[in-house]
Amino acid sequence: ERQALKDRLGRPIRDLRISVTDRCNFRCSYCMPKEVFGDDYAFLPKQELLSFEEIHRLTQIFVSMGVKKIRLTGGEPLLRRGLPELVKKIFSVEGVEDVGLTTNGLLLKQHGPALFEAGLRRLNISLDALEPDLFGKLNGRGVGSSPILQNIDFAKELGFEIKVNMVVQKGVNEAEILPMAAYFKEKGITLRYIEFMDVGNDNGWSFEKVVTKKEILEKLRSAYELEPVDQDYFGEVAKRYRYKGSDSQVGFITSVSESFCSSCTRARLSSDGKFYTCLFATEGFDIRELLRSGLDDPELLEAISRVWERRSDRYSDERTEQTAKSRKKIGMSYIGG
Ligand code: GTP
Ligand code: 5AD
Ligand code: SF4
Ligand code: SF4
Repeated sequence: ERQALKDRLGRPIRDLRISVTDRCNFRCSYCMPKEVFGDDYAFLPKQELLSFEEIHRLTQIFVSMGVKKIRLTGGEPLLRRGLPELVKKIFSVEGVEDVGLTTNGLLLKQHGPALFEAGLRRLNISLDALEPDLFGKLNGRGVGSSPILQNIDFAKELGFEIKVNMVVQKGVNEAEILPMAAYFKEKGITLRYIEFMDVGNDNGWSFEKVVTKKEILEKLRSAYELEPVDQDYFGEVAKRYRYKGSDSQVGFITSVSESFCSSCTRARLSSDGKFYTCLFATEGFDIRELLRSGLDDPELLEAISRVWERRSDRYSDERTEQTAKSRKKIGMSYIGG
């Protein structure tokens, strides 16, 4: 392993987020607005997606660059056929220490058991509200919260370690902050409040629509006593707190109010094999093209390492209303957060 691989700001590569599909069964307005992702939207055809063999090969190369954590994302990753097979392949790569999956949870009943059997243990499940009508509106498909809550219980019983992600938007789901806290505290599941970000090209973002960690924490402290918990590892995205006198925790992902670019060790791979060095990147580096043109592993390693070495992204440090509007960014559902 080349321990020395660092980007221009001295950051090593440690995490790889792999998107396995650009499709989703939900239509959250901040990610896949219905007006854009309608019935006739052209998703990627199968031959453009990386095959499991290609993902396996790239995982080996990325691990040799320093990657230790893999996260599977979408769109909605459970829509990718045969996903447990991919999980097994990824676990078979020596040097992979951790594999997680980020999902909306709707298909966990169907796919949870096989994924657990394949070795997967960590799930991050997105849920923006408990109130069924509001949640139905937010997911754009009228799906209430109870199927997701049932699947969370189901997955927990299977043995998964679960975290719940809630994107908080001002004037939209702020009223859900306390009910969500109460519900997941009781369950012993870590809820993470995510500051609304300006992902993609027009998800309706502005600073006014962000509810910051500070505001959420204040609200929580009106009902609970909370104490900060130390980071688990360098570059952990969430800041965590423990409810005093209990084992339950809450977390905050503060991409807007306290950006964490200086310790960002994350790379992203889209489902069609483009390599991105930031969630807010404008352009990706086409790895699939190189793979399919017959480069061998050392050549691929060389090419990908060059991209990381040239990396200087720190978008969240630099964000302004202006960059939010004018910068051309990749789509959230395409890159998986
Ligand atoms: P673990 O900590 O390993 O459980 O995963 P995670 O929190 O990194 O992944 P998850 O997919 O659950 O992401 C939670 C939120 O953090 C999502 O809104 C992501 O878009 C956001 N996020 C993750 N990594 C980054 C990053 O590098 N930059 C920014 N700005 N946001 C990120
Ligand atoms: N801001 C913050 N988080 C977002 N996610 C999707 N869009 C946004 C946004 N605009 C979250 C999803 C999921 C994770 C992968 O990213 O809710 O939990
Ligand atoms: Fe689908 Fe997640 Fe995007 Fe919602 S945020 S549309 S569930 S990929
Ligand atoms: Fe990393 Fe880009 Fe997110 Fe900053 S904005 S933490 S550089 S992905």
